[in-house]
Amino acid sequence: MEKQFKRYLITSALPYANGPVHIGHLAGVYVPSDIYARYLRLKGHDVISVCGSDEHGVPITIKARKEGITPQDVVDRYHEIIKRSFEGLGMSFDIYSRTSSATHAKTASDFFRKLYDEGKFIEKTSMQYYDEQAQTFLADRYIVGTCPRCGNDRAYGDQCEKCGSTLSPDELLDPHSAVSGSTPVKRETKHWYLPLDQYEQFLREWILDGHKEWKSNVYGQCKSWLDGGLQPRAVSRDLDWGIPVPVEGAEGKVLYVWFDAPIGYISATKDLTPDWEKYWKDPETKLVHFIGKDNIVFHCIVFPSMLKAHGGYILPENVPSNEFLNLEGEKISTSRNWAVWLHEYLEDFPGKEDVLRYVLCANAPETKDNDFTWKDFQARNNNELVAVLGNFVNRALVLTQKYYGGEVPACGELTEFDRATMEELAGIKRSLESSIESYRFREALKEAMNYARIGNKYLADSEPWKLVKTDPERVKTILYIALQITADIAVAIEPFMPFSAAKILRMLDIEKPSWERLGAADLVPAGHRIAQPELLFEKIEDAAIEAQLAKLAAAKEANAAAEAAQNIEPQKDSVSFDDFQRMDIRVSTILAAEKVAKTKKLLKLTVDTGIDQREIVSGIAEHFTPEELVGRQVLVLVNLEPRELKGILSRGMILMAEDASGKLRLLQPNEAVNSGAIVG
Ligand code: MF3
Ligand code: ZN
Repeated sequence: MEKQFKRYLITSALPYANGPVHIGHLAGVYVPSDIYARYLRLKGHDVISVCGSDEHGVPITIKARKEGITPQDVVDRYHEIIKRSFEGLGMSFDIYSRTSSATHAKTASDFFRKLYDEGKFIEKTSMQYYDEQAQTFLADRYIVGTCPRCGNDRAYGDQCEKCGSTLSPDELLDPHSAVSGSTPVKRETKHWYLPLDQYEQFLREWILDGHKEWKSNVYGQCKSWLDGGLQPRAVSRDLDWGIPVPVEGAEGKVLYVWFDAPIGYISATKDLTPDWEKYWKDPETKLVHFIGKDNIVFHCIVFPSMLKAHGGYILPENVPSNEFLNLEGEKISTSRNWAVWLHEYLEDFPGKEDVLRYVLCANAPETKDNDFTWKDFQARNNNELVAVLGNFVNRALVLTQKYYGGEVPACGELTEFDRATMEELAGIKRSLESSIESYRFREALKEAMNYARIGNKYLADSEPWKLVKTDPERVKTILYIALQITADIAVAIEPFMPFSAAKILRMLDIEKPSWERLGAADLVPAGHRIAQPELLFEKIEDAAIEAQLAKLAAAKEANAAAEAAQNIEPQKDSVSFDDFQRMDIRVSTILAAEKVAKTKKLLKLTVDTGIDQREIVSGIAEHFTPEELVGRQVLVLVNLEPRELKGILSRGMILMAEDASGKLRLLQPNEAVNSGAIVG
């Protein structure tokens, strides 16, 4: 028998307030958690769902430094954007808090202090990287270097984003400071460590023996961490942004962001209700953490060890974690602007909040990484939401208006077909429940959509629009049933698509039925008058999709340019002024150009150097066509030693700019000048 709980506490990973939220966050964490919370509320459970902004840590101070503003400015800006966009998408958090709040500072500080007072930490002095130029220790992302596992030369001191390895600063090859770019030195510093090794036994029993039902990606990661052996983990940092370590002699030290952030769930609950303790301390509360896969170790190993060390708190009953969502075949990246940002989506697609929720759930990376493409988004909207769901609801409502002026007809005698349909419908509820309760939301959404699929089939097979002429009594029963299915849909899709659910209820003009009434035969009673129908979903045209693809193409181009700017060759050795003077560079005009036979790369150019007309062979045939060269002014090094190429004497060299990708561009005077003009 599965354990029954009195109440539910749902947490969703606190997003870093160093940027807006994108579809990867939504598909991985927030859409699933909202479905779960809404479902439990519909079932009438005592449930609270808490979230908030994660406002400490190095990603935020780095952003602030880059923009020349304070960390507080950064978090204020993104906290607002994130909070508003979550509301826009219909996220039903009972509270959206933030870790820069006073409640949180006190809660986290007290938490640390209790562990400190009870001797639960190890105090250790060690040598850590220090940037002498910026006069600061380099924690986590402040240190950049080459990943020892995959060779990525932009790995961070805590993680390599390319291969996903967890790293420590000491493992990085060729480390340098992200603050000043300088090579750091080592300096002594004192920190507090949570001895995770002492919690290994507890974690093994609790997770490996006690929670075999966790998703295999989560269980697997926990097992490999535990099998690898746990090490003490520092819970403080040398930084000036964060919650001060509440210990004498700890000036300039703050709590490690991964120590304070999960405590943010507790602080948020305190801010929500004075009755917060029953949610955190009563074993009859079911605590569920929704997170992304990069957060597994913190929520399954570190935070539970903290809670255990503290004592008095319950542990999570489950930690459903998704894999990653890619975008158009590439990893979503905030820094490379390769993302669909929630706040921009809400602006670009007003009224289509549910479409995004639907697509992200239907395509959620539940068991493996998945891809979001705009074409798929369009297809799911047009072929599933419009053609299946919207179509059924619209038919049921429009026919009721047309035949009965909006008054729900009475249900007559049921046929075999009616009974079979109703039986099929009745079966959905159980499987929908079991899918949601085991965090299989894609499957659950399919089940919910089955009400509409079955409804469509019911109407298509019974053809009320034909029967209305020959057997009007029968049509009443058909539409009565179709309206009950419509009400079923409003209930079943509410966790997934709350806006559309509310709209259906408005059109039916009924109160929201409870979950338990799903499948009841009288959700919309005979004689009740429904409201005017409107379309539930609209087709998304190609133009809207193309506009989004163009946005991504622009991001890609900007990245390529930025990348090229990064890969600048180091400066060559210096030359004397005399050496430079010996080069004779002239503005010249290209008079003729043709491909050199039997070569791929070579062009034979005839140029007017002002001094003479001569031939130059240049390896640019893959970059320029002969036609686009003729008539152009270029710069030519005219006194380069002549050399024979493919039987042609080449006398000089055309100067070009080459970017990191190898693309060539001609250099041209900013206005026309006589051939032979000297460059220098
Ligand atoms: N900010 C973290 C991230 O985006 C998640 C923090 S979850 C919490 O990866 F538990 F620490 F709050
Ligand atoms: Zn790597």
